[in-house]
Amino acid sequence: MTRKSTAKGADVAAADLTAETAEAELARLAEAIAHHDKLYHQQDDPEISDADYDALRRRNAEIEARFPDLVRPDSPERRIGAAPTGGFSKVRHSMPMLSLGNAFGDDEVAEFLGRITRFLGLAAEELPEILAEPKIDGLSCALRYEGGQLRQAATRGDGSEGEDVTANVSTIADVPKNLAGKGWPDLLEVRGEIYMRRADFQALNARQETAGEKIFANPRNAAAGSLRQLDTSITAARPLRFFAYSWGEISAPLGETSSEALDRFRSWGFTVSAPMRRCHTLEDILDYYRGIMAQRPELPFDIDGVVYKVNRLDLRERLGFLSRSPRWAVAHKFPAEQAETILNTITIQVGRTGALTPVANLEPITVGGVVVSRATLHNEDEIARKDIREGDHVIIQRAGDVIPQVVSVVAARRPADSQPYACPECGSHAAREEGEVVKRCTGGLICPAQAIERLRHFVSRNAFDIEGLGDKQVQFLFDKEWVRTPGDIFRLATTDRERLTPLRKQPGWGDLSAANLFESIEMRRRIALDRLIFAFGIRHVGRENARLLAKTYGSFAELRTAIAAAREEGSEAHAELLAIDGIGPVVASSLIEFFDEPHNREVLDDLEKELEIEIFESDVAGDSPVAGKTVVFTGKLEATTRDEAKARAEALGAKVAGSVSKKTDYLVAGPGAGSKAKKAADLGVETLSEAEWIALIGGQE
Ligand code: IVH
Repeated sequence: MTRKSTAKGADVAAADLTAETAEAELARLAEAIAHHDKLYHQQDDPEISDADYDALRRRNAEIEARFPDLVRPDSPERRIGAAPTGGFSKVRHSMPMLSLGNAFGDDEVAEFLGRITRFLGLAAEELPEILAEPKIDGLSCALRYEGGQLRQAATRGDGSEGEDVTANVSTIADVPKNLAGKGWPDLLEVRGEIYMRRADFQALNARQETAGEKIFANPRNAAAGSLRQLDTSITAARPLRFFAYSWGEISAPLGETSSEALDRFRSWGFTVSAPMRRCHTLEDILDYYRGIMAQRPELPFDIDGVVYKVNRLDLRERLGFLSRSPRWAVAHKFPAEQAETILNTITIQVGRTGALTPVANLEPITVGGVVVSRATLHNEDEIARKDIREGDHVIIQRAGDVIPQVVSVVAARRPADSQPYACPECGSHAAREEGEVVKRCTGGLICPAQAIERLRHFVSRNAFDIEGLGDKQVQFLFDKEWVRTPGDIFRLATTDRERLTPLRKQPGWGDLSAANLFESIEMRRRIALDRLIFAFGIRHVGRENARLLAKTYGSFAELRTAIAAAREEGSEAHAELLAIDGIGPVVASSLIEFFDEPHNREVLDDLEKELEIEIFESDVAGDSPVAGKTVVFTGKLEATTRDEAKARAEALGAKVAGSVSKKTDYLVAGPGAGSKAKKAADLGVETLSEAEWIALIGGQE
């Protein structure tokens, strides 16, 4: 016996089953499909995706085709949907409400067309006109009109018998209670789809959540749950809609083609699903399919494919039906686990362990039966690699329980004004300053595109001031890949020792110039804090701001901790940063971005190991009683101007801040002091008059 035939039926390909295993497998599938039908149709709460469900059905059909003798009396192919539940009275459909066969992929569509021409005895190129229309993801409903008046509305149920939902359907605004226009048959059963728009569904779920009620998985479940309410007033409050696309029993013909019939539906007050197209070739059809797939994110409602129908009704008559679906129509389904949507924004999510993960906030879309509004972007390198940008159309994938992912960008649909999210050179986050159009790479220290300029700045006169390292030498060392980051500069002497052709042997260098360079580098290992800060070349942080920062935070460790803490808006650290006189929101966010960028942090960690960073000491005598104190001036000063007072305080080693916080030592309040004086009082900060202040600092100059 082979391994395959002993394996459990479920694991074996349909083509490999024996009669014995096939019988067991058909029983298993009948039970499973019935179970999922019940969840889907009666409880509006499916537990598997549409794709998985379709796979079960296809497997069942395949096995039945191979073993016709084993087809069970309760075969899923003989049932449609699930028998109605209690609560509503039953309605027997005068004409069964059928389902549609599915086509997955272009080949299966071609097969469908081939079947039609063959059946009608036509040549392949004589394809009759095909009406292509969106397949609305809702639930089908039959509306029976007598004398132009809505008499009965019924769900599909098992196809033969549904539920009477007349009272509930009567609350739906686009279901006419009395037909408009004229010319309708006395007996007319309009069939179509009850659905909910995506935006309405979102709003409904938000209301449900506030009220602590059930949250729906997707618009279709929400529509089904809303329709099947025993209390009609609940249904009336739900934003349901109806598209007409077909019909059941009629007392007079509706026209010669389906398009004609739909035009008449429209004139009688129905909404007909759009956009439709009349197609004449396979290419037309596939072009329509791709067009609709691309429009999917912008359509206000969910669709799960498109439907192709022979347009001429006389041909439909000839083509007739298979057991549960018409031969003249087919549903071309979208790949269930993927969908295109719009990526609105990218935000950074902080995980429990502090890990930062970029997240795509999406225009909500149903993928594999679940509404997806966020997807992971893994990390910034990935964003750079795929060049994913805010505003892009993206393909989303959901596989099982895996967090939805952004598979790719639809490049052709990128907005003209789009900007990279991450730097394509180094993968660092790109940030846009308030009021600016252009985004900038924040990976200043590592980005190859910026690296040379950054290194030149790093060693320049007001920064590390390394003699012998001019523009030319930096370029040389960079091209050799001996110096790529600031830390490399301080390892140069050591790494050079291991080289076969060391610096002194390089063209343009010699023993002396190499030795001099190593020496001047060595001399700069010890560095003043303000020079170090300036050397990073952070946007908006020139010498002046670097000094202010050095003065405020004193040590590099303190600076890094404070700026990291300032990331959180509303935090004490954030307030303290903004309170530094001269540092506004633009400088603050530039600093935060710089120290937040993981690549920069790595470079700083590396550099720090090489350096001896001095604690900032103000270059004034430290014996003033205000040295090291934080002072805020408010109100009108009379003895001096505000600028003068500030300069004097700083000359004495005080820090002057713009607003009062717990860290303020003195508030110097002139006449007219307002909220700052009150805040100082609340925080217990000592408040001085201008005269008291002058006395404290030892009189006017
Ligand atoms: S025609 C005899 N047209 O899809 C077939 N069905 O999988 C009549 N559906 O039960 C159906 N949009 O609930 C048709 N434009 C459309 C549709 C559509 C959605 C649903 C309908 C049907 C199911 C079949």
